[in-house]
Amino acid sequence: MRLLQLSDPHLVASDAALVRERPALALWNRALEQVALLEPDALVITGDLAQDESWGAYQRLRDSLDRHVRCPVALLPGNHDRPCLLEAVLGRRHVTAPGELMLRDGRLIILNSHWCGHSAGRLGPHQLAWLQQRLQAIAADPTPLVVALHHPPMAIGHPVLDTMSLVDHETLRTMLTPIQPLKAVVFGHIHQHWQGHWPDRPDLPLLGCPSTLKSMQHVQPCPIERATDPGGRLLEINALGALEQRVLRWSNP
Ligand SMILES: [Fe+2]
Repeated sequence: MRLLQLSDPHLVASDAALVRERPALALWNRALEQVALLEPDALVITGDLAQDESWGAYQRLRDSLDRHVRCPVALLPGNHDRPCLLEAVLGRRHVTAPGELMLRDGRLIILNSHWCGHSAGRLGPHQLAWLQQRLQAIAADPTPLVVALHHPPMAIGHPVLDTMSLVDHETLRTMLTPIQPLKAVVFGHIHQHWQGHWPDRPDLPLLGCPSTLKSMQHVQPCPIERATDPGGRLLEINALGALEQRVLRWSNP
């Protein structure tokens, strides 16, 4: 399984508008060049797809995916999104959260941590019950699993970002740590590379993804020393079921 993660494009209902002083749509189209370059089995976009919660932002996302992407796409909302608009514009063509995608030698589960009216994230009891059901259903299946959501599932050591993390992260940790086929938990929100793990699963990487728009003040050094460039992450499960992953960066146009 080869999975490309892109995150936090923050699109708006304009082709040329600047978002956080950057041309959001141009940078997003630039990021999508990675799809043709890397030929992933699937693309997962980990939230903050739209900045302005507008129909037009999701239309632009849909049109860009139609133009550039032939593989399956998994979409999950972040705190800046409007999940009902995301579902209405993109839900018929792509997998939306909460959802599951079966790939060659791998499984992807995507979660919705959007919490209406909050910058922090919340999965909530109904979604956690759904996740528990899915994990029970696949308990005997050794197929490698990756879980994706927008908010970090633990504190990353950032004074501001840690005030808006996932409020029910302890429940998620309790549910996910026993799952041995789980190879990685990936997320967005923090606009930077970050890697950590839960104390009881040191073998399971928790991976934060750079933004395609703009980096935030980083906590850990970028492995390829390009912390301010737009980026993403490539994850591959090899034939032995082991995870290989790396940060991707590309230059500003
Ligand atoms: Fe964001």
